[in-house]
This record gives sequence, structure tokens and C-alpha cells, in this order.
Amino acid sequence: MATTAKAAGRGPLGRAAGQIYAHIVGWGMAVPDRVMTNDDLSAIVETSDEWIQSRTGIRERHIASDKESTATLGLRAAQNALDVADVQPTDIDLIICATSTAEHAFPATASLIQAWLGAGNAGAFDLSAACSGFVYAVQMAAQAIRSGSAQVALVIGAETMSRVIDWQDRGTCILFGDGAGAVVLRASEAPGGVLSAILRSDGGGGDLLGIPAFGSLDIDGVTAISNGHKFGKMHMNGAEVFKFATRVVGESIQQATQQAGIQVSDLKLIVPHQANARILQSVARSLKLNESMFMSNIDRYGNTSAASIPIALCEAVQAGRIQADDYIAFVGFGGGLSWAAMVLQWGQPQPASSSFINRQRRQFSYRLAALRTGLLRASRSLTGDRTDSRSEEKAPEPGSRARSERPPFQ
Ligand SMILES: CC(C)(COP(=O)(O)OP(=O)(O)OC[C@H]1O[C@@H](n2cnc3c(N)ncnc32)[C@H](O)[C@@H]1OP(=O)(O)O)[C@@H](O)C(=O)NCCC(=O)NCCS
Repeated sequence: MATTAKAAGRGPLGRAAGQIYAHIVGWGMAVPDRVMTNDDLSAIVETSDEWIQSRTGIRERHIASDKESTATLGLRAAQNALDVADVQPTDIDLIICATSTAEHAFPATASLIQAWLGAGNAGAFDLSAACSGFVYAVQMAAQAIRSGSAQVALVIGAETMSRVIDWQDRGTCILFGDGAGAVVLRASEAPGGVLSAILRSDGGGGDLLGIPAFGSLDIDGVTAISNGHKFGKMHMNGAEVFKFATRVVGESIQQATQQAGIQVSDLKLIVPHQANARILQSVARSLKLNESMFMSNIDRYGNTSAASIPIALCEAVQAGRIQADDYIAFVGFGGGLSWAAMVLQWGQPQPASSSFINRQRRQFSYRLAALRTGLLRASRSLTGDRTDSRSEEKAPEPGSRARSERPPFQ
């Protein structure tokens, strides 16, 4: 069926000409320079490189410095994605940042990134669906594009998991890392792009994986603990999450391919959330697929939650594992419980190389945005509104790593 649809120059759903499709036209990633190996971890908790590698497939992860934050990593990933797409910040209509480690309850991390990019025509919001967040966000952006309400959307998955990890808990701290990935989606009349999406949730399993926050019944106060959970720190029932993941990943990939009108065997590559290499091995067995069908880079990054799929996507494209017209799938799962799978038909033959002038225009936009933020703050300060000037995020210099408020291991 897939071959017939391709030959006819139509998407697998057989949509008519004139229909708007949402294509990924840019991709970018950013990870902190600092690498923490399993041996480094064994100096913090009782564990070993052998245990971590054999149970999870993870060798090392990247950890944010005190100059980096969710928004600064997201900003760098977004700038890289805009370069590949050769899109100017003012052309963006919508920015969605999927994250569980937002800079604030509000303003949205997406709003900080919007200001730093100088994306003055964009709406921006954060999306909370834990490790499924990126797939949810791509679907929201694709819907906005298909409905005609947006032409260009920027979707970011960004996390500083190191700041919500309980570094005394060896069952969780070995798994996670920091990083960000981003994609630019653009409206096109060419069939393809996002073809289907399965978004699911089972809040009944919410207690298996979570981070108590403000407004939570889970805690008695900011530091007090009522059930072993700690404010702002992740808790997880690893064995139960493992069982949940192996069940829903295969199931949702099958549903998403069915919705797209193709077979699982038509997929060229599956870009899954990177949680545990053993989960992917188990899913590959259940779908009777070769393990190489699953993009995996968990050994170098660990679980970067909402950032893991766009980071893996970038590396898959760079490695030449995705070509024009290929059918690929994203699949995410995690806190909520939530899970999501999506099928896309890749439309971009080669990464578009930005012209020198367009790159310079983007750099100018970033500098202008920083200047504007600085001027706004200075003017508020002059008029005596000190609350604003103290609490606002400072725009990072283009190419620099901005500050964050907390050290990574508190
Ligand atoms: C967390 C996880 C790696 C644990 O692996 P596991 O094989 O289930 O291990 P268990 O929890 O059964 O623990 C086995 C033993 O190893 C010990 N152990 C746990 N963590 C350890 C560590 N980091 N180093 C050494 N030993 C450890 C346990 O205490 C237990 O010891 P015991 O047998 O003496 O009681 C695994 O359950 C997992 O990956 N789950 C999914 C988590 C996930 O993906 N979360 C994110 C979803 S988005």
C-alpha cells in the first residue's frame, strides 16, 4: 500500500491536492559539555559501570553547568534547527517547549526562548507530558499548521533532569541526563510530513513516576515529605515503569502505522524515547523487528526525557539513516503515565544549507533581542519597578551559555 501511494505522488492517506501538510524542515540539538560517566556516578552512590551498562545500556550522560539551564539548552537547539531550516525568527508563528524541568511555573520556558530568538510574531507555551512531551508537541504544531493557523512552528524538547534527580537514589540517578533538541515544522502542499499520531494517557499510574511540585497534595510543605516523595525531586517505581513501557511502545507504534495507512514493515527507522536499551530490545522482539530499526544513542546521553527523541532524530539524520520519502516513527512514554507514537514521511532530501546572509540576519535578531530585553529591564529599573528587573531572565549572548539559578547537585 505504501509503495502504491508513493508511486501515485500522494501521501498514504490519499489526501487530495491543496491540502496542507506539516513537514519537519529543520532540526538541531544541544547538550552540555560536561560528561558524567558511570564511574563518576559510582563515587556518588553505590553502583558500578558494569551494573548500569548491563541493566540500562547507559555509559555516560551530559550534565548542565551552573551557566546552563533548560531554556539556554533549548535556545541553542532551536538556533541550530533554524539554521538547518533557514528560517528567520520573525517567521515563526508558534513555539512549543516540551519539558518537565521548566525554568519557572511561569513564564513559560518557550516564552524565554521566544524572546531570546527575537521571534516577535510567535505565540509560545510549555507542554507537560513528561517523556512523551515532544511527540505531543509535534502533533500540536502539526495540527496548527494543517488548520492554517500557523505556517512555521518551532518545537523544542529541553530538560535539565540533573536538577530534579535525587542524587541519593541509585535507582533513578543513574538513568538521566541533560540536553535539548528542536525541530522546525513548515506548511507545505507536498504530501507527507506528520501522517498520524496516537496520544494516550493513564493517570491511574501517575504515582509510578513523578516530581511533586507547587500545588501538590503529594507534599505537606516545601520540604516536608508525606509519603517518601520529596518536593521537586523525581520518584519512580522502575520495575512497573519498565513493564508499562514494553507494553505500550509496541502497541502504539502499530496503532500509529495503521492510522497512517502503512505497515510496521514499511518503516525505515523508529526514533524512540531513550529510557533503557532493554526496553527497546524487548519491543523489537515483540514487533519481530531487527533491533537496528530503533535509533539508539542512550549509551552517550542517558534518558533526557522530552529531549531524547529530537536529539536521537538529529543524530539519525546526521548519520544518513533517514532519506527523502522514508516512513519513520517517533514513540515516547513516561510520566503521566503518558505515551505517544507518530508516523511521518520525511520530506527533506538534504539538510538545506543556510546562506551566509540569512545566518547573519539571525545573529542580528538574537543580538537585537538581547538588547531589547536589556533596555526593557533598564527602563523598568529607572522607573523603580525593581521586582521585575530582579526576577527576569537575562538574555544570553549569541553563542554563549547563559546562567542558571541553581547548582546541579543540590
Ligand atoms: C531502574 C531499572 C534500571 C532497575 O533495573 P532492574 O533490573 O529492574 O533492577 P531492580 O530494581 O529489580 O534491582 C535489582 C537489584 O539491583 C539493585 N540496584 C538498583 N539500582 C542499582 C544501581 N544503580 N546499582 C547497583 N545496584 C542497583 C537493587 O537494590 C536490587 O538489589 P537486590 O536484588 O539486592 O534487592 C529498571 O527497572 C528500569 O530501567 N526501569 C524503567 C525506568 C525508566 O525507563 N524510567 C523512565 C521512563 S520515561
